[in-house]
Amino acid sequence: MSKESQVLVEKPDVKKAADVEKKAGVLEVFIMGKRYQVPTGLTIMKAIEYAGYRFIRSCGCRAGFCGACSTVYRIEDEQKLSFALACQKLVEDKMYLVQLPFVPAAKAEYDIEKLEPSESTLLTIYPEIARCVSCNTCTKSCPQDIEVMKYIQMAIRGNITRCAEISFDCIQCGLCAMRCPADIKHYHVSQLARRLRGKYIDKKSKNLAKRLEEIENKKYDGDIEKLMKKDKKDIMEMYSGRKIEAEEGNAGGD
Ligand code: SF4
Ligand code: SF4
Ligand code: FES
Repeated sequence: MSKESQVLVEKPDVKKAADVEKKAGVLEVFIMGKRYQVPTGLTIMKAIEYAGYRFIRSCGCRAGFCGACSTVYRIEDEQKLSFALACQKLVEDKMYLVQLPFVPAAKAEYDIEKLEPSESTLLTIYPEIARCVSCNTCTKSCPQDIEVMKYIQMAIRGNITRCAEISFDCIQCGLCAMRCPADIKHYHVSQLARRLRGKYIDKKSKNLAKRLEEIENKKYDGDIEKLMKKDKKDIMEMYSGRKIEAEEGNAGGD
């Protein structure tokens, strides 16, 4: 029988965690229905790799930023389904683990250049937000501890700025949309709010405009070419010794 899935593939050359002798500091987990023993202190992602699997999807930054590693799990003898990022959540005993390759959520098509940041824009593009029943399931599902229901309420009221502010740490993992009984695609709604805010509402940054102009005029092309020829050690030294604008008091975005 094939051991492949859309997310994981079993490595042929890794010692099976299931062979590890049971001892203190060893947990029992279930990956795709199969029992493994893994050490304590690992994240879900590392535990899955320890068990002999290689991620072919559902894995990105490994640092809690990209939202690619959405995990659904249940602890044995519990009813509750829980949600987490596999690269952040530590593995627990008797966890039944499932990785989600992605959430096939519908996304509206729009041309940001032709939109206006009016009170009705978010509702017009994503009318399903009006179906929110205030159950707060989305908030409880969010691994970033974002007040998801609150930002949807702000979107319904047409408060683009607050919707963008509250959702700022969204990593688009899609777990909120997986659970919403009203089929709302929260992260697409809030992404539009942030785009509208950035394009039409916030004051423009003079520093950013200047830097974009420099890039368009190829000011840094020569430096980039030199960098490409350096080895890793030199680049690391340059990075450690770099000047940081904020430390020089120059970082103002206007
Ligand atoms: S899960 Fe859906 S219906 Fe429930 S509060 Fe969140 S947006 Fe509203
Ligand atoms: S708001 Fe939704 S998509 Fe964004 S991080 Fe939270 S659960 Fe993930
Ligand atoms: S791998 Fe990027 S958030 Fe987990």
